[in-house]
Amino acid sequence: MHHAVEKILVSQEEITKRCKELAKEICDDYRKQNQTPYLVALLKGSVPFLAELVKYMDMDIQFDFMDVSSYQGTESIGDIKINKDLDGSVKGLSILLVEDIIDTGRTLKEVTKMLKNKGANDVKVVSLLDKPSRRTVDIQADYVGFEIPNEFVIGFGLDYDQDFRHLPYVAVLKPKFYE
Ligand code: IMP
Ligand code: MG
Repeated sequence: MHHAVEKILVSQEEITKRCKELAKEICDDYRKQNQTPYLVALLKGSVPFLAELVKYMDMDIQFDFMDVSSYQGTESIGDIKINKDLDGSVKGLSILLVEDIIDTGRTLKEVTKMLKNKGANDVKVVSLLDKPSRRTVDIQADYVGFEIPNEFVIGFGLDYDQDFRHLPYVAVLKPKFYE
């Protein structure tokens, strides 16, 4: 175990197993509706999750990346800044947003709204982790890997100050690292 880790919340094996289940569920749902999902992953945290998930998607999918950040400060609550936009148009696409974790829900709410404004046919969300107790805006993921308690987690894409994204599991960070 990494020296910064207090405890492992979700092991590598559990993540793989859950990604296989999610991939099947997602493909079944989209097939039923005669749609092909266009996966949009939010950088950087969702990269390991996207990579694991698509391995098990038995469908001809495409994916792209966006990088967004929330504006700091009280006057701009709800706004997001686009650091890297999608390469192509979203018009008419059935988008599946891929996220690492839903915390307050602000990021996903804003990105969903923006993609719909740009003409996406449909926007759904898959998130590896969900902290429902922290939600401040009304948004729910269509697919969730694991619900976790209100603890700061690292690993499998999630960082603390850009560190620990490479860990192959989701873990609670030792308090001494952020105190
Ligand atoms: P939201 O807009 O509050 O839902 O923000 C979600 C974003 O906050 C995620 O994409 C993460 O980048 C970050 N985040 C939230 N909780 C954690 C955590 O426990 N560890 C690491 N990053 C987190
Ligand atoms: Mg993020």
